[in-house]
Amino acid sequence: MNSAVKKYWSKYKWSNIHAMIKNMKRPPAKYPEPFHDKWVVITGATSGIGYHTARKYASKGAHILMINRNPEKSAAVSKEITEEFHVPVEYVIADLTLLPDIQRVGQHLLSLEKPINVLIHNAGLHLETRKETPSGLEVNLMIHYLCPLIINKMLIPKYQRDRAGRILLVSSEAYRFAAWGLDLEDLEWKRRRYNGNKAYGAGKLAQLLSMHILSAELAPYNVTINAMHPGMVRTESGKDNGKFYQWYKRNFLDKRSPPPDISAEALY
Ligand SMILES: NC(=O)c1ccc[n+]([C@@H]2O[C@H](COP(=O)([O-])OP(=O)(O)OC[C@H]3O[C@@H](n4cnc5c(N)ncnc54)[C@H](OP(=O)(O)O)[C@@H]3O)[C@@H](O)[C@H]2O)c1
Repeated sequence: MNSAVKKYWSKYKWSNIHAMIKNMKRPPAKYPEPFHDKWVVITGATSGIGYHTARKYASKGAHILMINRNPEKSAAVSKEITEEFHVPVEYVIADLTLLPDIQRVGQHLLSLEKPINVLIHNAGLHLETRKETPSGLEVNLMIHYLCPLIINKMLIPKYQRDRAGRILLVSSEAYRFAAWGLDLEDLEWKRRRYNGNKAYGAGKLAQLLSMHILSAELAPYNVTINAMHPGMVRTESGKDNGKFYQWYKRNFLDKRSPPPDISAEALY
């Protein structure tokens, strides 16, 4: 057993696993207060957890700014929420695996006069096979780690100005798929054999680790950053994977998973 593995197991807190299992069985605590006139920015609000979260906040009076990649779905969600809840809904179209798009989103948010009361980094994906962006960056690392990190970092001058805010990362207990830690020599899975669960877990683990650093950096401006596990819920996650995955998802995962409105409740 090498020393990194020994060190890992010697520090492993099994009580965390028990707490996780117990926690996952509990219904989310409910926050009864309204959210009138506060701005909530949410990435990936066209389906699943993000969609239900946008609806949840809007139902409580929040103004919504979605960052989505699909214009048609964005227009439909925006129309639906505006008509149903009578709150302002805006959206920005961006592919959050692409650096220029991520930077454009950061610039847009930075230029807003209004404070961002809640910023939810939710967009994510699960890919069975390795995929790179046109500039050669691995997509798990981009969407789960670099995208939130870059946007949060770009917003620091705004938070310095506004002196308030809450950042929420939609993480996953699947960060445990990277239980041995990150391979800093191969964050992009170029040398190792790619594995969808491990790459997903590594992206989420990198996100969690960066959260701890950002948390200290943001604290002087009264801004908090927290991560949450939304539970295993029935969404469109993995929709680009192959036929066997779709069969497995339909027949095993989805049958054991509740709908994603419980995750939205928890995020609210
Ligand atoms: N479902 C679960 O059981 C579960 C468990 C733990 C954690 N999570 C996390 O929950 C978050 C939401 O996932 P979900 O389960 O709700 O899946 P989902 O239904 O597939 O929703 C994912 C959202 O992210 C968007 N998105 C994906 N790639 C994007 C990109 N390159 N640029 C911009 N937006 C992009 C999708 O947009 P399109 O509509 O255009 O595809 C969609 O709006 C993810 O971070 C996921 O890792 C989910």
